[in-house]
Amino acid sequence: MSSLFITFEGIEGCGKSTQIERLAKRLAKAGRDVVTLREPGGTPIGETIREVVKHPPGTEPISPDTELLLMNASRAQLVQQAIRPALAGGAVVLCDRFYDSSLAYQGYGRGLDLAKVQQAIDLAVGDTRPDLTLLLDIPLAVSQSRVGARRQTTGEGQDQFDQSGDAFFERVQAGFHALAKGEPQRFRIINANQPPDPVSDEIWNAVKDHL
Ligand SMILES: Nc1ncnc2c1ncn2[C@@H]1O[C@H](COP(=O)(O)OP(=O)(O)O)[C@@H](O)[C@H]1O
Ligand SMILES: [Mg+2]
Repeated sequence: MSSLFITFEGIEGCGKSTQIERLAKRLAKAGRDVVTLREPGGTPIGETIREVVKHPPGTEPISPDTELLLMNASRAQLVQQAIRPALAGGAVVLCDRFYDSSLAYQGYGRGLDLAKVQQAIDLAVGDTRPDLTLLLDIPLAVSQSRVGARRQTTGEGQDQFDQSGDAFFERVQAGFHALAKGEPQRFRIINANQPPDPVSDEIWNAVKDHL
């Protein structure tokens, strides 16, 4: 069967983890091999980098350039060690965030030059590009309340990005919308501000055209 590379994007709490798990099950039921990955991380090297970017050691803040390069170092390893082999074997690869997150967070959010961000991405991914990118769209206020509720149940702590303030997340959100508008053939915007079942159905409708 022909391979398929699908990435999930959107701000924290939009439902990426929830929906990737659901889609993976649905695809497996349909008889497809599914590989689920996340960024930053997804490989032992990448998971170590994830810890550094989420909880930078020491007292100095991580510089935006360092953050950009670490994200793309994790990505380069993921592409070579996991994504390309899985696609070569005909799997459906589901990735929780990919390079659009670098454009949205380090570019639009941190204010790095988008061309520079794109250069780092190009180095990390080469010609490995998503066939379909699902942007799970929720208002910022919903993101904040879902992440707050998730913290209560899972006990997860704050990370580097939580220190960034509302204006940062507004730029990230606007960035995702601009990216989707710029590549309408690759992106599908999913209304994620509804219960999980209808979100899953919207996602399945977008994915089944590609199977
Ligand atoms: N459609 C939904 N409606 C309400 N709550 C949701 C929905 N999808 C996920 N959640 C809850 O919101 C929180 C964030 O979802 P999660 O899948 O972890 O998002 P992400 O991976 O994008 O950060 C979790 O506690 C999850 O159970
Ligand atoms: Mg998640």
